[in-house]
Amino acid sequence: MDQYLEQFIREAREVSKKAYVPYSKFQVGCVVVSESGKRYSGCNVENLSFGLTVCAERAAVFKGVSVEGSSFKIARVIIFTPTPGPITPCGACRQVLYEFGEDFDIICTCNSGEAIKMNIQELLPSAPDIEIK
Ligand code: THU
Repeated sequence: MDQYLEQFIREAREVSKKAYVPYSKFQVGCVVVSESGKRYSGCNVENLSFGLTVCAERAAVFKGVSVEGSSFKIARVIIFTPTPGPITPCGACRQVLYEFGEDFDIICTCNSGEAIKMNIQELLPSAPDIEIK
């Protein structure tokens, strides 16, 4: 484990405690490290209208874009879920993460401390490649 990863994992676990989850009671925390070396934490925020819930991953990404603007690029993502084993991000979050980087690792960790590392390419194979920019 590299020097910073332990710290990032602690931060992801810490921010999960801020999650607003009156419905699921499932607190997720995420730290997104940008290529500029900054990091952004996010937690899930639920809503009475369930479909409006924002996952921890997207909360962290939106924070990063709000600070860095369109130059925001993801270097690494760390996710904490309150589960016995690591859980990978949902499909919607994979797509949003991919928008800001096409080759970075996502480290998923959990209560037991077990961690898995997967590249965004593994999590979102055959991502849509449409030239609309
Ligand atoms: N959730 C996340 O924050 N990230 C994920 O990748 C999966 C699910 C949240 C959404 C909801 O608030 C709760 O976990 C249960 O699905």
